[in-house]
Formats: sequence, C-alpha cells, structure tokens
Amino acid sequence: MENRIRDKRFLNKIVTASEAANMIQDGMTVATSGFTPSGYPKVIPKELAKRVENGEEIGITLITGASVGDELDGTLTRSGVIKRRFPYQTHKDMRNKINDGKIKYQDMHLSHVPQFMNYGFFGKIDVAIIEAVAITEEGGIVPSTSVGISPQALKLADKVMIEINISQPTALEGVHDIYMTKKPPFREAIPITKTADRIGKTYMEVDFNKVVAIVKSDISDKVRPLGKIDENSKKISNNIIEFLKDEVSKGRLPENLLPLQSGVGSVANAVLGGLVDSDFENLTCYTEVIQDSMLDLIDAGKVNMISGTSFTPSEEGLVRLMDNMEYYSKYCILRPMEISNNPEVIRRLGVIAMNTAIEIDIYGHVNSTNIMGSRMMNGIGGSGDFTRNGYISIFTTESIAKNGDISSIVPMVSHVDHTEHDVEVVVTEQGIADLRGLSPIERAKKIIENCAHPMYKDKLKKYLDDSIKTSKFKHEPHMIGEVLNWHANFLKFGSMK
Ligand code: COA
Repeated sequence: MENRIRDKRFLNKIVTASEAANMIQDGMTVATSGFTPSGYPKVIPKELAKRVENGEEIGITLITGASVGDELDGTLTRSGVIKRRFPYQTHKDMRNKINDGKIKYQDMHLSHVPQFMNYGFFGKIDVAIIEAVAITEEGGIVPSTSVGISPQALKLADKVMIEINISQPTALEGVHDIYMTKKPPFREAIPITKTADRIGKTYMEVDFNKVVAIVKSDISDKVRPLGKIDENSKKISNNIIEFLKDEVSKGRLPENLLPLQSGVGSVANAVLGGLVDSDFENLTCYTEVIQDSMLDLIDAGKVNMISGTSFTPSEEGLVRLMDNMEYYSKYCILRPMEISNNPEVIRRLGVIAMNTAIEIDIYGHVNSTNIMGSRMMNGIGGSGDFTRNGYISIFTTESIAKNGDISSIVPMVSHVDHTEHDVEVVVTEQGIADLRGLSPIERAKKIIENCAHPMYKDKLKKYLDDSIKTSKFKHEPHMIGEVLNWHANFLKFGSMK
C-alpha cells in the first residue's frame, strides 16, 4: 500500500475503513467512483452499513457514475442507508426497493450528471469516496477500472476519502485520460477528433486539504456473469453485420466503419462478438463500457482503439483483463463519463450507436427501462446520449419475451425512453427495419413485416389496418381505447396473444 502512495504527505491520512465510515453522517450526499461493477469503493460502504446494523440511523443520497457492485448498492440498500439514488442502477435489491417506493430514484441521461453536480442541482456534495490504484508524486489520484464522475466528485465534495485498492493492477496507470470542461459561457470545444486522441492527464486532481481519509482495500470488482451467446443473439448480430456491410457498399460508411458504441447486457455483447468473425478490420469503439467481446476484438487484431469510461468484463473476462492489463491497456482509453458520453464528441465522430430495448412500438418509439410501463428495470444509462447524437442509431431486441407470452413489438410502448425521432434502425432475430426517411405508417409496416415474431404479425397488422381505417387522423393512427389492451392482457391473463 505505501509504495502506491508516492506523494508521501498522504501517508499521514491513512485511517481504517471504520474510522472513515464514522465521518459520514445522516442526511449527507455522497458521490462515489464506479461505473458498472467496476472501480467503486468497497470497504468504507461496508463499514457504513455495519453502523446501521448496530442500531444507528443513517440515510444518504448516493450519486455514482452508473450501476455499482454489491458492496456499495447492495449492502447499503439492504441496510436501508440509501434513501435517494442517481443516476443508474442494476442491482436487484435496489431495483426492488425502488419499485416498492422505498428508494427515491431519478433515472437520468448519464452525460447530464456531471453538469447537475457542477451546478448544484443535486444539492451540496458532502463526501466523495473514490477507489484508486495509486497516488502520484504530485498528489494526483489514479483511478482504477472506471472513471465515471470521479473527477467531478473530487472537485466538488467538501471531504474526500480515497480507497487504495491493492487488488487492482498498477498497470492501469496510464490508461486514463482525464479532461474537465468549463462552465458555459466559457466552455470550449472538446479537442477529440479521433477515438485515439488523448487530451488530458492520466490522473485526477484533488485538493490535498480536503482529503480526510486514505483507506486500504483489497476487494476485487464484483462483476456480473454474461449470458451465453444464444441463437437469437447470433441472428441479431448477423442482421446488424449484414446491414453495416450494405451501408459500406452504398458508400454511407467507410470500410472500417465509424466508431462503434454498444450497450450493456448479453445481446449487446453478442452483437460485438459477431464482428470478431466478420471481415471488418481497423475498427474503433467510442463507447461507455468495455465488455468481453471488445477484448475478443483486440485479441483478433480487429480493433485499433477503444475509448470508454469503464472496463465491464464478466467473471472470466475480469481474470483475463487483470492477467493481461499491460497488453489490453495499450488499446484502451478510460475517460470521465462527461467525455465518453458527450453529445458533441459522439456527433463529431459519427458514432454507430447500438443499444437494447425492452419493447419497441410499430412507429419506432422505444422503451428501455420500465417493464409493463411501471416496473423499473435499470435506467436509460447512456443509451440516450448515443442514440440521439450518433450517426446511425440502432435498437435491438428479441421479438418475443417470456417464452412468447409477450411480443416485444407492440402497438404503443408502455413507457417511452427514445422517441421515433431518434430511432433509425430496429433489429430483432427476425430481421431488420431501416426506418430512415419513412413516414409513421411506412415505418409500422416495415417493423411488423421484418421484425415482429410470426405468432404476433397478424395481430399487429390488424391493429395497424383497423387504426388506419378508424382513426380520424392518418399520420400516426392509433386506437387509443384498444392500445393498452396488449399490456393489460398480459397482466390479467399472462399473455398478449
Ligand atoms: N416485456 C416485458 N419484459 C421483458 C420484455 C418485454 N418486451 N423484454 C424483456 N423483458 C424482461 C426479460 O424477460 C427479463 O426479465 P427477468 O429479469 O424477469 O428475467 C428482463 O426484461 C431483462 O431482459 P434481458 O433480455 O435479460 O435483458 P438484457 O440483459 O438484454 O438487457 C435492457 C436489456 C433493456 C434491460 C438493458 O439493455 C438496459 O438496461 N438498457 C438500458 C440502459 C442502456 O442501454 N445502457 C447502455 C448505454 S451505453
């Protein structure tokens, strides 16, 4: 631990995790490192939970980059410490408490979060808890496996606690690129014109006087397993690859494509996995999370550079990454999420955005967050940042869910995250619907024909035909009395059929 703290002034600030946790008080707002179950603080949150288990009453607002692992979201949810949570989560215990109304949650575009912090829209930030691999000679904090909101948390919090995690490899040093924006009207153009551009420092700055605790940690990231790449995911992946090849042949994309962004989860991982066996070469990724399939692309020599804000491997991927960090870090840059998800950069680079939906309606609106309109799953995460600003925005979903009792193509989504204005291409295992340049009725015909499952096609066609016939207005016709029966039937009778 001491050899990781190269600015020796910080040695005097070493305390135990429990001493650090004792400095957190009821009602505080705590901002932490962590983005997906990577690079989040682990030992201080566990000690905080113990205080509550021992009878103290503590409730906090927790702000992170995105979802985090069990030691933070899980432990503090189960002990009742988290009362309010921003901006994204994926933990089952937290999801249950959000859906029971016990945790107040605002699900947000991730690119908005640093600005919310800078302007105090979340209120004052009392404490920052940041996981780091080292402190440099000049007192710079070297992040671990993610960056997220850490630079803003260090800058804005009244008090700073650093967990030096000795289980995280020091080979991570050098992979980060920390650049901070100014507030408008002084904000300047972010000087990234290629995925590989490095524009900042390899460490984050902190005011030494604000640091109240340096704590040792040796707990590794609790990453999540990835589902096996099944037949439907392979079909979705193949459909996307055929679409991309066609775009190249029409001269709309260069031979090595444009920087790729891929969402979270098993389907998203499978989509990129398909590129490993494709003819595409010299690819780049400008994305949020670096999942296993991106490591496969590196191994296959298919990708020149990947920019993200976190490594998000599976359990096997984590072992592979940790054992070969020096090698993988040559191909990767981790940036603050204000930069990885920045609309300006995403638009400039012409990112190909590929995200996953829960359900998509016949006109192209997408629900990625709320099952049956009201059960929060995870959150919108960065999908909106990339979808709205990408060069092409693609949404994937399997055409059915729950063994066919649910059609993922519905007349009207039960909750809207991405509107018809942002969704350009819909892909299921059945096929692909390129919606660019189409009117709503043309879009509906294409989505039903190409993407709906055969067991729901006729029902959807009938809905569209009847809507066109009966609706007074023929632009985006609906039968409002009828439309939510699809979801209501599932809730009442267990099937949309
Ligand atoms: N109606 C109801 N439930 C549905 C459904 C539908 N149309 N489609 C899927 N589901 C259910 C599944 O059955 C599963 O339920 P379970 O938890 O009870 O098993 C659950 O939703 C998740 O489905 P799954 O297919 O396992 O999801 P996934 O791992 O591919 O993730 C999202 C899909 C949409 C939840 C996920 O991609 C997400 O959170 N996206 C939003 C954030 C985002 O895009 N971030 C990336 C930006 S970089």
